[in-house]
Amino acid sequence: MTSLIIDTDPGVDDAFAIALACASPEVDLLAVTTVFGNASLETTTRNALRLLALCGRTDVPVAAGADRPLVYPQEHEADRVHGSDGLSGRAHLLAPGPNEVSELDAVGLMARLLAEADEPVTIAPIGPLTNIALLLGAYPSLRGKIERLVVMGGAISGGNTTAVSEFNLWSDPEAARRVLVEERIPTVLVPIDLTFQCMVQRPWLDRLAASGPLGETLVGFTTDYVAHYTAFFGKECTILHDAIAVAEAIRPGLLRTRSYPVEVDCAFGPSRGALIADRREPEIVATFGSKLARALDIAVETDVDAVLEYLLSRLAR
Ligand code: BDR
Ligand code: CA
Repeated sequence: MTSLIIDTDPGVDDAFAIALACASPEVDLLAVTTVFGNASLETTTRNALRLLALCGRTDVPVAAGADRPLVYPQEHEADRVHGSDGLSGRAHLLAPGPNEVSELDAVGLMARLLAEADEPVTIAPIGPLTNIALLLGAYPSLRGKIERLVVMGGAISGGNTTAVSEFNLWSDPEAARRVLVEERIPTVLVPIDLTFQCMVQRPWLDRLAASGPLGETLVGFTTDYVAHYTAFFGKECTILHDAIAVAEAIRPGLLRTRSYPVEVDCAFGPSRGALIADRREPEIVATFGSKLARALDIAVETDVDAVLEYLLSRLAR
């Protein structure tokens, strides 16, 4: 059984990720914590509450976290990808459940759950890393209660938000640097280089939509999102970044990783938010050293067909 906290900014692919965790009997979903990102904090929190109701999991606590980056505001860029309400303009179709946002904030709830946990907890941050940076800054003694972080973020060979930066890192580079470079918690980083390999096409979406009400609702959220990725790649497709990361959180080793020294660029030039990974051969790094501070396990490849079938088998209920 994996004890899991999802820190999220729903978001279309976040919706798939939450549904995947809810559909996985080997997961003890301790909480969903929310952060600004694909939409405002108010919107991502409302979406999280309603998505859990859709999945029949109103027992899972939802706590709201950061409404902005740690230090510097960034111009918001996600509307064109996820729609103005984070769910392709269809969030209003989700019925409100009886669940309400926690009286604790995201950091407070995560801290309490970690402190009370008998077994180490996996955290899957699938939005900007602001809440996680605040958690680790405020409660350093709880580091040992985290089994691992499975982070969706970063771009190695070209960004999706700027030429070199991926959205989650770009949204709060200082927070990303704290979590990915300054800390030493076991971490798997799932960058867009990996998630782009797991491209979803129309037949997959059609199979999910035909599987029942949950699948139909999830696929209904993808209209703006498919349109964005269709323009991005020049063919009809989409990318379920966050669901791929949560799949790895549930099934460790689903994604093959390599250890690379990394840095996050926090300068204010065109590379702000970029993940810099030293991908030279290990013998070369050993010989000449790396100027980069921390080696991180970065997901580099997977059996794409198996991953997509796994997602479908869980979500098509
Ligand atoms: C990441 O940014 C958001 O658009 C998605 O939800 C995902 O977490 C991909 O770059
Ligand atoms: Ca996300």
